[in-house]
Amino acid sequence: MFNQLPLLQADPILGLSAAFRNDTNPSKVDLGVGVYKTENGETPVLGSVAAAEAQLLQQQTTKSYTPPAGIAGANRAAAELAFGREHKVIGENRLSTVQTPGGCGALRLAAELIAKANPQASIWISTPTWANHVPLLTSAGLRLKEYPYYDFAEHKIDFAAMLKTLESAGPNDLVLLHACCHNPSGADLSREQWQQLAALASERGFTPFIDMAYQGFGSGIAEDAYGVRLMADTQPELVLATSFSKNLGLYRERAGSLSIVSATHAGADAVLSQTLSIARGLYSMPPAHGASIVDLVYHSDELRNQWHGELTAMRERIAGLRVQLVNALNERQSKRDFSFIAREAGMFSFLGLSVDQVQTLKSQYSVYMTDNSRINVAGINSNNLNYLADAIIKVI
Ligand code: LMR
Repeated sequence: MFNQLPLLQADPILGLSAAFRNDTNPSKVDLGVGVYKTENGETPVLGSVAAAEAQLLQQQTTKSYTPPAGIAGANRAAAELAFGREHKVIGENRLSTVQTPGGCGALRLAAELIAKANPQASIWISTPTWANHVPLLTSAGLRLKEYPYYDFAEHKIDFAAMLKTLESAGPNDLVLLHACCHNPSGADLSREQWQQLAALASERGFTPFIDMAYQGFGSGIAEDAYGVRLMADTQPELVLATSFSKNLGLYRERAGSLSIVSATHAGADAVLSQTLSIARGLYSMPPAHGASIVDLVYHSDELRNQWHGELTAMRERIAGLRVQLVNALNERQSKRDFSFIAREAGMFSFLGLSVDQVQTLKSQYSVYMTDNSRINVAGINSNNLNYLADAIIKVI
């Protein structure tokens, strides 16, 4: 049965972690997979999460199944964080939110729902986008189209080209947008650009499909949701995938959610029933542990405040590292200006290196990043900054 299956290459992002673990060089630097790291290179359990987890273990009386949509309090948290407590889509009962196994689960569930609603639908993705968007969306049979996004020469969004391309999107199309902290480029849409996209969506009739995996890592919880809230204000329908992997550090607990805004309350009920039926056929119900932590943190004033402090500290540390990296690179040479890295947001930026240069960094200096020279800025610390900057300068 399985003999004819060929061996596949390791995943371009997850495979890096394995290679890094096996590297014995004590100076090795991991800028690969997008996980937050402290100054000591650790990915910590947040204090607010540890406290909620302790409470959970004390209070929990059963491991029986959760409802199909998951933990209701976690869904409320995800919806209120994304849209704001007072948003009309919540008040008008036009929002259906279900808990999913991480942000990936949300994207895949959304893809299945879209394929069921409209088998002719296409999804427009940015060039470049997160590599895993492609298998998550095409596995459901959806067609992908690409719109230009990041201009590698100018180190910024080519918004004119993006807008021009999306003028050909129509009612059978969804446009996948990154709410904040664009993965892999770190280049985010301005408020004015979001407004222009909303106007274009109204004119052309395409549906926004927003991936918000890094809420709170860009400028703040509400600030990072600007585009989500604007689209929900102006468009009849919206698809939103969110994740607590990064902002609560719940990576392995797989706590995410899928929210669909429908034009009417009855439409939202139908969407919910369809979503749950698809989820039943995929994984039945999502895991409860991470979502129970979300529920406890979000609904306790004390833990929520503690979490906000921890999230702010992660965001500010990354912003500081961006400036330190730019200074370290610009001090060492004057041919290339790396200051764009400090203007970008979230975990990632492109260094602008060739695949060969990335390979040399890995083989000669044990510096790990994806082949497109995307770096996880959070992997930098005061111990590896100078080593990293020297290595980068040597390969360029
Ligand atoms: C990343 O882009 O590195 C993260 O989102 C982790 C992943 O699953 O790829």
